[in-house]
Parts: sequence; structure tokens; C-alpha cells
Amino acid sequence: MIRVESLTKVFRRPHTFSGPLGPLRTLLTRRYDERTAVDGVSFEISAGEIVGYLGPNGAGKSTTVKMLTGILTPTSGLIEVDGRVPWRDREANARAVGVVFGQRSQLWWDLPLIDSLRLVGDLYDVPAARFTGSLRRMCDLLGLDDFLQTPVRQLSLGQRMRGDLAAAMLYDPPILYLDEPTVGLDVMAKQAVREFIAETNRLGRTTVVLTTHDLADVEALCERIILIDKGRVLYDGGIDDLVTAYAPPRRLVVELADDETRTFEIAAGRPIPELIAQVAAEHPIRDLSIREPDLESVITRIYAESER
Ligand SMILES: Nc1ncnc2c1ncn2[C@@H]1O[C@H](COP(=O)(O)OP(=O)(O)O)[C@@H](O)[C@H]1O
Ligand SMILES: [Mg+2]
Repeated sequence: MIRVESLTKVFRRPHTFSGPLGPLRTLLTRRYDERTAVDGVSFEISAGEIVGYLGPNGAGKSTTVKMLTGILTPTSGLIEVDGRVPWRDREANARAVGVVFGQRSQLWWDLPLIDSLRLVGDLYDVPAARFTGSLRRMCDLLGLDDFLQTPVRQLSLGQRMRGDLAAAMLYDPPILYLDEPTVGLDVMAKQAVREFIAETNRLGRTTVVLTTHDLADVEALCERIILIDKGRVLYDGGIDDLVTAYAPPRRLVVELADDETRTFEIAAGRPIPELIAQVAAEHPIRDLSIREPDLESVITRIYAESER
């Protein structure tokens, strides 16, 4: 469904000189600052997959999504989405994809939510009967009924995000791009968003590309992740494989009599009772537990390794 090959985006900005003659020098000197936001990324995503596109701030996630939607033109490389080149065939591509940017609503700020949704229906030429059915489904899935008549500017962030999700899926696109859809949401709203994504994928076999730095989103939704940093792919594969391949050691967490908590690495192959006995011989233990490596610690480790 989505094919990306050696995708690269370099942003160029006129270099600005500082100092008293700075603005003049900036005008007269043609120099550019270049920033490679996406640096030779390749991946393929099949119909019906939910893929987590992960990376720290500035990794190039949003830039990738913008190229997938056709908003940005790649500097080099190739993208094909459902047989189309997004930046060349922007309109047809737009009809095939729903997009939500968590940081920026696509809805009309001053209009009641329902009017925004109607406008989306018109823009995408959704026939009236289909629109009604689609709207009903979105209202049920996302619980929109209570605030359909509220102007978007008055919605809470969680309500607005649900409105944005409805707008993105009203015309039944086979692909959904979500760029940080849970950023800033409370636990309940995050849960609603996750359930919607899971349902959408399950019911319509919608292909979902999800960027986030909330690993709970990924754990709830994705079997596969693509991990990027500094515009490059560090890992592409299953979450389970990732944890197996990179798993940091488990840890023994010990609560001591004086309320101090200490953790000890459980070296691979070392019998745990032996470690406990050793720790107990040296410290008065009140309680202990074993902490399994979580996705976060695995990912932190991958970033640390790529840094070296
Ligand atoms: N329009 C732009 N002009 C110049 N630099 C940009 C622009 N958009 C993004 N960048 C830079 O590209 C890099 C990747 O940004 P982005 O794709 O937004 O990262 P992410 O979404 O992973 O946080 C960052 O260093 C960012 O500053
Ligand atoms: Mg971003």
C-alpha cells in the first residue's frame, strides 16, 4: 500500500548573519543553512497494517508524514501510496488518505463541529446518504453527539481530537496518517483515540501510520514499529522481536529496611536466588520485585547505541 525508497528531505533556509551589519550581510551573501530532516528512509507498509513511526523530537516523523500526504515534495527518493506519487498527484492522494496532526486541527475554528464535518463531506464529494451513515458511525465510535453543535474553538483538546479523527475518516479513506494524535490528551481521551484507531483498522482494514512518542499508544496498537532518529531508520520490525533482540537485563528492585530502594542488574544466566541471597547478606531487605525490561528501556538503549 505504501512504498518509500531512499526518501530524503533537506530544508534550505537563507543563512542569517548576526551582529550590526547582519541583516545587510544576509541580503548580500547567498548562503544557506541546510538541515536534513529525512535521510534515506526506506520502508514498505501493506494494506491493513498499523505501524508505529517512532522517534525523539526532531527525528523527522512529521516531515515524513507530510511527504506521504503530498504536502511536502521530497528532495530525493521515491514514494508510492496506493499506486500514486503523493506530491505529483496531490488531490487523488488526498482522497485516499485521512490525516490528523495532533498539534494542529484541520477543522474550521469558528464553526460548530457538525458544520466542519459537513464541509469535509462536501469537499470529498461524499454522497448525502453515505455521509449520513458515516457521520452516525463516527458519532457512535467517538461519542461526538454531546458537542456536535459546539464551535470547534470551544472544544476541549480531547473533543477536538475526536472531531479531527471523524473528519479524517468521514470519506472512508483506505489509509490513515496520525501525527501525534494523543499529544497533550488526558488518559480517558487517549483511550478513546486508541479505541477508535483499533476499531477503524479492524472494521475497515484501514492502513494506519501512527507517529507518537507515547509508547503506551504503540503497545496498545502496533505490532510493528519503525524507529527513526536523525532522519534515519534504526529499526523496522515487530515489537516482540525488538524486545528480544535488544532486551536490556532484568532488574532486581529491593526495598531496604530504611526505606531506601536499590536496583541490581540481573546478569544473563545468573540464577536469581543466588543474586537475592547475595543482596540479602549485605542489606536488610523488606521487599523485593523483579522488573522486566519495558519497551521504553529497550528503545532508550537503541538510541544510546546509535549515538555511539
Ligand atoms: N519547514 C522547515 N524548515 C526547516 N527545518 C525544518 C522544517 N520542518 C522541520 N524542520 C526540521 O527538520 C527536522 C525534523 O523535523 P520533524 O519532521 O518535525 O521532526 P519530528 O516530527 O520527528 O519531531 C527538525 O530538525 C526540524 O527542525
Ligand atoms: Mg512532529
